[in-house]
Amino acid sequence: MIDSHFSVLKNEVLDWLKPQAEAWYLDGTFGRGGHTAAILKTGAKVIALDFDQKAISAGMVKFKAEIAQKQLCLIRENFTQLDQVLRQLAQTQLPDLKLSGAVFDFGTSIEQLKYDNRGLSFDQPDQPLDMRLDDRLGVTAADLLLALPEKHLAQLFSEYGGEHQARSLAKAIVFERQKHPEKLKTVGDFLSITAKVLPPRHGHLNPATKAFQALRIAVNDELTNIQVALPKVLPWLKSGARLVTIAFHEGEDRLVKDWFLEWEAAQFGNILTQKPVIASESELSLNSRSRSAKLRVFSKN
Ligand SMILES: C[S@@+](CC[C@H](N)C(=O)[O-])C[C@H]1O[C@@H](n2cnc3c(N)ncnc32)[C@H](O)[C@@H]1O
Repeated sequence: MIDSHFSVLKNEVLDWLKPQAEAWYLDGTFGRGGHTAAILKTGAKVIALDFDQKAISAGMVKFKAEIAQKQLCLIRENFTQLDQVLRQLAQTQLPDLKLSGAVFDFGTSIEQLKYDNRGLSFDQPDQPLDMRLDDRLGVTAADLLLALPEKHLAQLFSEYGGEHQARSLAKAIVFERQKHPEKLKTVGDFLSITAKVLPPRHGHLNPATKAFQALRIAVNDELTNIQVALPKVLPWLKSGARLVTIAFHEGEDRLVKDWFLEWEAAQFGNILTQKPVIASESELSLNSRSRSAKLRVFSKN
């Protein structure tokens, strides 16, 4: 049986998407396939994308039956390429393809954070500071720390992480790399620099949290990807179809909000969530990660 209990806002995604049996939906961020599984259970069909080969390989095994029955097309691709993928499917196997809805659950999965040895977790200081979700990408987080000019490093920490000490941190990294470039290789190396510069934070948060997130966003070009992909979905949606997005940090949410406002102004459809939908108390008690999730919905005319 396919389990999907770990997916953030799963019930809310279904409530807003309202999947119809036999209709096609896009899951742009397959991950462990939790949202995909929930949509498939309604009798609907899914085209799912993820740029992480590990996610796709695991999905191929877990969803073997659904793939064989042609209920699921699971494809390794960056969601910025979704128009090419859909066009190719329409030309080869799914003539007259139109989507009855689409969902994007941005960011990273728990597997990627905790178990995949990509240097995405503070708990594993010995791991290389890689951070690539798609191993075809050429540049790792360590590469960025070694190569970016100080000013660009400061911009990265400030714009992607909202880190108030961005300039001091950038300065400390450049100082360290001039003396010991060999000491900028692992998660622990980065944490030892941040510990010198960043003041302790309230609660249990590691002081490096914002800077760490900023590096991951930069390595994977996460904000540009969202900016590029969202307008590509709209032409594929049927009239009345809904686009559901889940953002985990402010930068992502702002991009979604801005596109939705622009589309509404252009009379392409309506924003159905004037305020973002957030996790219920019961979900929060089971999964603290859902605390920062914001779900928004746009309905196409
Ligand atoms: C939060 S997880 C999705 C979890 C999924 N909804 C579930 O229920 O299991 C985000 C996934 O999106 C993928 N991802 C992030 N950016 C992507 C992009 N530009 N193109 C394709 N996949 C992407 C990540 O590799 C990750 O597996």
